[in-house]
Amino acid sequence: MSSNLIELECSACGKKYDASVEQHLCTCGKPLLARYDLKHAAGTFTFETLKDRPRTMWRYAEVLPDDPPVSLGEGMTPLVHAKRLGASMTCGTGYLENLYVKDEGLNPTGSFKARGMSAAVTRAKGLGVKALAAPTAGNAGGALAAYAAAAGIPAVIVMPADTPSANVMECQAFGAKVVKLNGLISDCGKYVAEHKDREGWYDVSTLKEPYRVEGKKTMGYELWEQFGGKLPHVIFYPTGGGVGLIGMCKAFDELQGMGRIASERPRMVAVQAEGCAPIVKAWEAHQSSAQFFPNAATIASGLRVPGPLGDQLILRMLRQTKGTAIAVTDKEMLHAGRELASLEGIFAAPEGAATVVAARILAASGWIKPYETVVLFNTGTGYKYSEAWQKALQA
Ligand SMILES: Cc1ncc(COP(=O)(O)O)c(C=O)c1O
Ligand SMILES: [Zn+2]
Repeated sequence: MSSNLIELECSACGKKYDASVEQHLCTCGKPLLARYDLKHAAGTFTFETLKDRPRTMWRYAEVLPDDPPVSLGEGMTPLVHAKRLGASMTCGTGYLENLYVKDEGLNPTGSFKARGMSAAVTRAKGLGVKALAAPTAGNAGGALAAYAAAAGIPAVIVMPADTPSANVMECQAFGAKVVKLNGLISDCGKYVAEHKDREGWYDVSTLKEPYRVEGKKTMGYELWEQFGGKLPHVIFYPTGGGVGLIGMCKAFDELQGMGRIASERPRMVAVQAEGCAPIVKAWEAHQSSAQFFPNAATIASGLRVPGPLGDQLILRMLRQTKGTAIAVTDKEMLHAGRELASLEGIFAAPEGAATVVAARILAASGWIKPYETVVLFNTGTGYKYSEAWQKALQA
């Protein structure tokens, strides 16, 4: 169906690339984005046709690569109306009545990384690659290892030595080769870059191939479908590499390109940890690109990304959607995780819990109005963070 995929385009300089062969970054060093024939896609992309499709992210076939999907049932995660949590968030003279949690912890391998890896491994398999490799903060490695197993392609996962143990175990169980380094995800990225040519690896690093964004953008399509063809006013997204934020904004542009929505956009809020907040720092200084964040440290391992490659794209999207960026402490996110769990029955990753803190602050400040529809992204399950939660629950 996706003969609709026309080409790849540089997100910075606009240079075009052939989508039928392996591509990574633009010659200018920035990420490539997939472009589709949206007029053609719009012909079959309707609420009516979607009704009868599989309840996975592959239901949006018109705007995804057209190789046979490597799928484990990712996507179509619950959008939970968080009434009790919303009632606890003061907002002017009222409270947040329309607060929702998009629970990505229910994806295969317990995080939204499943979406990106399903799309990336699908396309990599279509291109006939022989081995996959990626640096990871944790969840992306587990997801890559699972989809590589399902595709029958060997995978190498490079992770910081202090990555949560569940992430290490799952990669090993899925049969991937695990390389542990004393360093951060940026060091792991360098390791993959240095070894990939000699070893014949296809580099699946965040934004260094064009299709993880394609998988993650389906979160945006799902919001549109689950809200009955409308979008929320505000989206809180825990931002490490920023792929989900970039992907959702891309989905909204495509939906507009297909005539399914008008020009309004949800205000995107990038939530980071105080111990690693390159985007928040750049946002507050009104800069269009981020500086490397020194000595990055946070228990939200997915947010420990000191130098995100998509910094300019993330900052552009915050500006264009009239959004903002906010940092929270580890202590606050662990406390908020207990609130989310005890009020709503959702046991979140610390990254997801961080959005609760940010929403409470922006509701109290009047940045959010009581009538507005607000979505918090719980990007992963709390079950994989036993080290972090053990400490918090004993405290
Ligand atoms: C649970 C969780 N949330 C958020 C993130 C950050 O994701 P992104 O790269 O899309 O900003 C990660 C990345 O590892 C993660 O594992
Ligand atoms: Zn370029």
